[in-house]
Amino acid sequence: MKTPFKGKHIILGVTGSIACYKAADLASKLAQGGAEVDVILTESALKFITPLTFQSVTGRRVFTDADLWGSEGHVQHVALGRKADLLVIAPATANTLARLAHGIADNLLSITALASACPWVIAPAMDGNMYANPATQANLSALLERGVTVIGPASGHLASGLIGPGRMVEPTEIIEHLRLVLGRDGPLAGSHILVTAGGTEEPLDPVRSITNRSSGKQGFALAQAALDLGAKVTLVAGVTALPTPVGAERREARTARQMLERVLELLPQVDALIMAAAVADFRPAAQSQQKIKKEGGAPEIKLEANPDILAAAGRIKYELGMPDVLVGFAAESQSLVENATAKLKAKNLDLIVANDISASDAGFAVDNNRVTLLEAGGKVDSLPLMGKDEVAELVLARVSALLQGREILHICPQADWEQAQAKGEYRAASLESEGFIHCSRQRQVLKTANRYFRGQSDLVVLWLKPALLKSPLRFEDSHGERFPHIYGPLNLQAVWAVTNLQTDADGVFRHLQEPQAG
Ligand SMILES: Cc1cc2nc3c(=O)[nH]c(=O)nc-3n(C[C@H](O)[C@H](O)[C@H](O)COP(=O)(O)O)c2cc1C
Repeated sequence: MKTPFKGKHIILGVTGSIACYKAADLASKLAQGGAEVDVILTESALKFITPLTFQSVTGRRVFTDADLWGSEGHVQHVALGRKADLLVIAPATANTLARLAHGIADNLLSITALASACPWVIAPAMDGNMYANPATQANLSALLERGVTVIGPASGHLASGLIGPGRMVEPTEIIEHLRLVLGRDGPLAGSHILVTAGGTEEPLDPVRSITNRSSGKQGFALAQAALDLGAKVTLVAGVTALPTPVGAERREARTARQMLERVLELLPQVDALIMAAAVADFRPAAQSQQKIKKEGGAPEIKLEANPDILAAAGRIKYELGMPDVLVGFAAESQSLVENATAKLKAKNLDLIVANDISASDAGFAVDNNRVTLLEAGGKVDSLPLMGKDEVAELVLARVSALLQGREILHICPQADWEQAQAKGEYRAASLESEGFIHCSRQRQVLKTANRYFRGQSDLVVLWLKPALLKSPLRFEDSHGERFPHIYGPLNLQAVWAVTNLQTDADGVFRHLQEPQAG
């Protein structure tokens, strides 16, 4: 398991269910992931499992209601909750759900939960009828409404003999949900990243195809790394047996042409495209509707070129300025840097991840990669052999920095800008009515001006540096495109240039005056 749990303080509440034994595995996995895990057992949980089990796997003392009324109780009853990054209750009994839904604070776990300011994740476990009971359902609904993440329960054989929903979700799956919750306020929160992964498959007849040895591991690791940083992730997956990372939306695309279709359809909605899929360069020119029989002798297979998806995305980026960040992969067996640089330029990429496929310890179908990262700005970094998870983290850190560096623009009347300068900060009327300030990317600004400011004169464009913004910036869908929104007042330090915005004689905005360099 990787970094998202490192240094995080997690409270694991364990309540009185037979599924308590699974909680020990969960605690162990979190501790192995680098989290500081403080376990709180309810009185009923103590009937199923001992504190020693948890102490052994977390290396930390375990808390029970005895601590509540002990000599440290005055501190303990609120201290644990205050420093927590996350509170997870697994298994959560019907009784504990009722306590939490109604704010009943009569044991250490519920007091800690109420005193905490961190997100809650709850994995219920109970008999099927207890789960179906309207009281339990109402309690769950109340918790969901308050933003609590509820995982499961899963369906299966229950200890009561019933078959149905009620089983606690397995620890490995709970872990995936926890990393999603921990990452959701990360630097990519509000960004939408499209990742393609796996190989493509070109059919020859109903049973045979031409494919390649890509496992999809690198692409899936990229999707996971993007989720860990809080991004919304769409994964266009080719041929791969890998499970979808929890939180990613998966779209299947088996052939290169299907993948092109999916990518083009999603491109206007995303901030970045990472093309990690191994797309077949060629496909059989003809596909037989029937299985080709061997009695007919070895067939001669004529191939034809597949579309170059990355090049198509690069052209769209050149012409329409989207997506903001375009990342490609290059699998090279010789002259790695030269070939990758040529591809970076030819396809109008922001970043290319070049891997040397001649090495047997890295590349296709193994867990490691040895890559060189080349940026459009000329930066070249040759990285040592590392896990595909680590490569993914580094690539996403670059994507995040590139997205942060992009400019955003805001149109407003000259008078509003003058007023803002007098006040020391800028607040648009939409901040009151909608909670945010509408902004545009450079490519969107004329469209926005013609849509909302038609016929207005005396307008200015504020050019903003996202990295200097004090209020949160989110990129959100509107009119089928992503637009930046600032959630709070705009601090004037983030405005690095101001230009005038004027229409042509016919009242249409056609020209965006760029700021003078320097
Ligand atoms: C053998 C046994 C198994 C139980 N399993 C569950 C269970 O899986 N889910 C549940 O909601 N209650 C279960 N209960 C009932 C709870 O332990 C009981 O409601 C208890 O008061 C819960 O307390 P707590 O929420 O403070 O841990 C079980 C009880 C027994 C005796």
